[in-house]
Amino acid sequence: MFITLEGPDGSGKSTQVQPLAEYLRQEGYTVFTTREPGGTTISDQVREVLMRLDNRSMYPRTETLLFCAARAQLVEEVIRPRLQRGEIILCDRYADSTLAYQGYGHGVDRDVIRSLLAFATGGLKPDLTLLLDVDAETGLRRRQTGGGEWNRLDAYQLEFHRRVRDGYRELASLEPERWVIVDAEQTPEMVQLAIRGIVTARTGI
Ligand code: TYD
Repeated sequence: MFITLEGPDGSGKSTQVQPLAEYLRQEGYTVFTTREPGGTTISDQVREVLMRLDNRSMYPRTETLLFCAARAQLVEEVIRPRLQRGEIILCDRYADSTLAYQGYGHGVDRDVIRSLLAFATGGLKPDLTLLLDVDAETGLRRRQTGGGEWNRLDAYQLEFHRRVRDGYRELASLEPERWVIVDAEQTPEMVQLAIRGIVTARTGI
């Protein structure tokens, strides 16, 4: 079972992963959590390049390829072998982030991104994707007033974050069998309860 959490910056994804993992472990499952970009030594090195504030001149195509490169390594080294062993993988961001940010956000051709993603992941898609949905203003405000380090990608304009949010919602509507939208304006406790309910209902866990 491969479950991903997606959402705009400040949607609170990262605080939801560990409690969900704990809950599933209590139910007797072996759960592995990871995040993107990163999750392997090589992918973390690529993350460094992507997040550096002084790399402001990076082009969207370069970004797209680097996110895909980090992901290719994570899939081969970590995700696929663990799925084969029967583990549940919870991943904080995955391929849909590239469609939302580089595709909808920066206008990189989404069909091209889709082929790059297919190549980078060897076609591995999540069984379930939770979209933690929050409007761009709330997300950015949360990001600025606490939680998480401020990074180069946070510095883009609000307009960019609006496109990302709308892009996510469109992605969810295109594949309703894989996506579930969670209202992330609720308290973290409520979001966690909602997520547990969805995971149980959708996967039979
Ligand atoms: P991070 O500090 O991990 O933020 P978050 O807690 O919001 O996940 O930074 C990841 C940033 O990279 C975030 O702004 C989203 C962006 N990103 C992309 O633009 N494309 C991608 O494919 C991925 C995985 C992330």
